[in-house]
Amino acid sequence: MVGCRVKRDCRVMPESHRCRIDKRVRHSPTRAGGPPDSPRVCRDFHGNLALSLLAAACGRAIVNHTAIPLPVIHWAEAGVARSALWRSESGNPPPKRVIVGDDQISADAAYRLACEGTAILWRGDFQNARQLLQALTRRVERKPRKASAAPVASPTEAFHLHRQAQSRRARTLAMLLLPLEGDYGIPLRRAPDARQACMEAYGPVDGPINGPSVVSLRELLGLIGAHEWRKKGVAVPALGDRIHPHYGVFAPIRGEYVELVATAPLPARTLAFDIGTGTGVLAALLARRGIARIVATDQDPRALACARANIARLGLADQVEVVAADLFPEGRAPLVVCNPPWLPARPSSPIEHAVYDPDSRMLRGFIAGLAAHMTPGGEGWLVLSDLAEHLGLRSRAELLAAFDAAGLKVIERSDVRPSHPRAADATDPLHAARAAEMTSLWRLAAAT
Ligand SMILES: C[S@@+](CC[C@H](N)C(=O)[O-])C[C@H]1O[C@@H](n2cnc3c(N)ncnc32)[C@H](O)[C@@H]1O
Repeated sequence: MVGCRVKRDCRVMPESHRCRIDKRVRHSPTRAGGPPDSPRVCRDFHGNLALSLLAAACGRAIVNHTAIPLPVIHWAEAGVARSALWRSESGNPPPKRVIVGDDQISADAAYRLACEGTAILWRGDFQNARQLLQALTRRVERKPRKASAAPVASPTEAFHLHRQAQSRRARTLAMLLLPLEGDYGIPLRRAPDARQACMEAYGPVDGPINGPSVVSLRELLGLIGAHEWRKKGVAVPALGDRIHPHYGVFAPIRGEYVELVATAPLPARTLAFDIGTGTGVLAALLARRGIARIVATDQDPRALACARANIARLGLADQVEVVAADLFPEGRAPLVVCNPPWLPARPSSPIEHAVYDPDSRMLRGFIAGLAAHMTPGGEGWLVLSDLAEHLGLRSRAELLAAFDAAGLKVIERSDVRPSHPRAADATDPLHAARAAEMTSLWRLAAAT
């Protein structure tokens, strides 16, 4: 310990990470919601004192090169106050009540605690923690003994109830926590080596600007699953190749929409824009279809990195340029393709941004800006499912009115029925809407 005033935090830091700015960081009353006089995590910021003080003032720690602050989780263990960085890709705040638990705890007791909002920081065997999570999942999914007598009024209500239930489930299951060491090692018996998976999701371990953290087991298992997918890739028949999705990036599992883009007649082979490229799958497909140059955009740094990696792996880097942009790149193209998130709803976590489009922002932005980004005689291809229409979240008339208002006409619409297993799952609360769903490629052109 190097004489840091924030002693409680420094206890959880390896010696090399101990605070060098101790003389400057003081306890201060926290902002609303934080415990008074809460300890800070001290860091060696390679001299970036301004950032470190800003972080300290916010009650957060800076942990990576992009200086994204992470919150701090606090708990007591063997009578000693402890804390560590809190990681939650879903954007959940650190649980306020945390107890330390191990293999002795019963599933019923753990479930009661989780439902009350008390998190369990696991110190037992890793595989037992996995089993406990499965036991909690079974309990959370148990149907209430007395089902509500009131029938669900509409598909829209069913959708909102379903999302509420999903978010309750996620909250409860996120209450089982694991410690991560500064190098993302898991200091538990029979724990897997998840360092690569964590590195892919959280970024590289950069010595002094990283440190011990706490994460929910559920999130960690998600990271490990995403790592396996990234390694193996998803077969995309229309591309005749595999796409390797990164953690948090929309994966082309539903191949039918890719097939629509693979078969629509190309208006030109010179240039195309792919708006919101995700893994880069549609840009790659357009390149393989012979378009000389494609500019692919996205706003999400993970998507940009993922698209670049896929394009390079497929040997298409000379044809496809991946750029960070809000919707369109500079200029005009004879073909502008976009597959926006299909549901107009608020994402409940940052990683849902590729699925939910609040107020149809991306859809409306694409439609409104399309005419100004097409060359004369050019086409805009909009890939969209009508699930939102079956759920009563958007109407067909609204979509057609938006085309009209943007000076666009429909040249053709190709439809395909989704073939994913959920479309046929009668136990799904959204079954009626999913069973009726159609995915379409709208070929749009300037109306005059
Ligand atoms: C449904 S995913 C489609 C990904 C890919 N084109 C595909 O078809 O698999 C939508 C993508 O749009 C991106 N996106 C959302 N808003 C955007 C915006 N304003 N500008 C650029 N990209 C955006 C998301 O990050 C996400 O990668």
